[in-house]
Amino acid sequence: MSETNGRGLVLVGYRGTGKSTVGRLLAERTGRPFVDVDDEIVARAGRTIRAIFEESGEPAFRVIEEAVVRDLIAAYPGGILGTGGGTIVREANRRAIRGHGFVAWLRADVDELARRLEADTATRETRPSLTSKGAVAEIAEVLDFRTPFYEEVAHLVVDTVSRGPKEVADLILEHWSRAEGSQDSGEPRSCS
Ligand code: S3P
Repeated sequence: MSETNGRGLVLVGYRGTGKSTVGRLLAERTGRPFVDVDDEIVARAGRTIRAIFEESGEPAFRVIEEAVVRDLIAAYPGGILGTGGGTIVREANRRAIRGHGFVAWLRADVDELARRLEADTATRETRPSLTSKGAVAEIAEVLDFRTPFYEEVAHLVVDTVSRGPKEVADLILEHWSRAEGSQDSGEPRSCS
């Protein structure tokens, strides 16, 4: 892969898997733009995501999210796209994401995600609850529901528990380059 040409990259995964951090690192490494679906939703709506959920409800959020995914992909061909944890639930988003290019799924287990989200002070202010359950039960249930969708879109599965963001970015770059070179979109590869 040239660092400025070729198809784009999409980062998917649950909250707390490091999509934004890794996306920014990859943008630095490749010279490509990093654009984040959640950031664009906030900019467009002029409200935090938590406010959108509370004032308009999750279905309204998902409508904005789908439009943002479509628009960012159209505006940044070849760009690096960071998605929200639930972006992959809508079929139209999964299709758009696969159409954009190489898809990396950043993974972590339930306990690790709960630990990271608990440690993240932004979580309580900006991340709305997705169920009425406690943190660990919510993550377990939602992750279980979403896992088939992550599996469906991913070319590469990267375990983020044993790796820091730089190492995750290196791995993605290596596999993305290889896929660009071979145009091989076969079975997903797993780096655990
Ligand atoms: C959500 C994840 C969030 C954001 C919204 C809903 C989800 O994105 O899109 O709060 O449904 O998992 P991050 O994964 O970037 O936190």
